[in-house]
Amino acid sequence: MINSEEIRKIFINFFQNRGHRWVPSSSLIPENDSSVLLTTAGMQQFKDYFIGKKDALNDFGTRRLISIQKCFRTTDIDEIGDERHLTFFEMLGNFSFGPLGSDDPSDYSFSGYFKNSAIFWAYEFLNKELGLRIDYVTIFKGENKIPYDDTSYQIWKKIGFDDKNIKAFGREDNFWGPTGKEGPCGPTTEIYINNLEVWNLVFNEYYQNQEGKLNKLELPGVDTGMGFERLMKIVQNTETIFETDLFEPLRSDIISKKPDISIRDLRIILDHLRGSVFLIADGIYPSNLDRGYILRRILRRLMLKLIKNNLINYIESFVLDIKNKFSSLYENLNNYDKIINVIFTEFKGFEKTLIRGLDKFDKIVKYNDNKELVEKLFMMYTSYGLPLDISLEILRERNIFLTEKDILFFEELFKKHQQVSRGL
Ligand code: SER
Repeated sequence: MINSEEIRKIFINFFQNRGHRWVPSSSLIPENDSSVLLTTAGMQQFKDYFIGKKDALNDFGTRRLISIQKCFRTTDIDEIGDERHLTFFEMLGNFSFGPLGSDDPSDYSFSGYFKNSAIFWAYEFLNKELGLRIDYVTIFKGENKIPYDDTSYQIWKKIGFDDKNIKAFGREDNFWGPTGKEGPCGPTTEIYINNLEVWNLVFNEYYQNQEGKLNKLELPGVDTGMGFERLMKIVQNTETIFETDLFEPLRSDIISKKPDISIRDLRIILDHLRGSVFLIADGIYPSNLDRGYILRRILRRLMLKLIKNNLINYIESFVLDIKNKFSSLYENLNNYDKIINVIFTEFKGFEKTLIRGLDKFDKIVKYNDNKELVEKLFMMYTSYGLPLDISLEILRERNIFLTEKDILFFEELFKKHQQVSRGL
């Protein structure tokens, strides 16, 4: 079976043959971009090229670039454990920055390109190069004075797609960006295989300012992103992304040590461990602020799962699995000692709290209604330092779920407590 290393090579070769230069992934800590805490998309490191502040031809000798970008998204952090959500993932992308050349897909030069080449190459890569069948594609139907994307529609028609396989949606689905409050953005066309959105092709025609107003960019650009785990799921025909080789040898290692681990725990460990290792390698330390807090949250939830499954003593072996899989591409994973150190220090700091919390949990958390439950959880937090998200996870393991109203009540108690401790 074709593996992820081979797919990376095929992707790189395909686009290099078409005038692109491969640029290494940027760090998960965005450089010169305070609009977001972490790198969430491949285009972030190229923002200045889209807005004409920098010239790709000067800097790279071509207006066509590709990258395999490390990304970390926190929006779905509470969904981790289901079959498709991830915090850390890799994104394959090709990019073009104006001025445009012929936009003919047989033009393999270094000039900028737009919808015609971007769509045709995406089709060619998936269909001809990888032998995959695209189910359907989506395009932008127009909304709020931004026009319908007839050009993309015509291109897909020319390639051979029927009307029923070209679906049009509005701004919510087929318009991407910006990351954070301002930046390049534009209509998208998205490619679906087995009902999974695999590739998002963004045509950056606009710049959204801080007030949310869209202005036309002087020169349009192309920003595409293909989730690597999803692509591998399709290529390797696995049940979910977690059985692809991108989670090996870690997955087999965990299962060999704990054959009866629940699927949800396994997925949380796979995701949070990869995520933590990559965040630490890029220089983030656990703390109570911003990125540090994101890392702290996933490390603590990871610890809960490792303790529950008696896997905590294997952490070094697990981190080594990740290093072995990825360090040829991401060299800073070779700072193995540092990564382990940061994890151990955080674990040590949290160990007592967690073990005591787990010990007290069932004794204390007996309740008649949700209000009482929240009060008890709050007490677990103030008296034993057990964070709410960890309590929620422990409850979830017992099939107990809190409502949004309950969480608001917890926050209310928290605010009152703060006022009291500040003497207000
Ligand atoms: N920026 C777009 C995304 O993140 C395409 O690369 O989906």
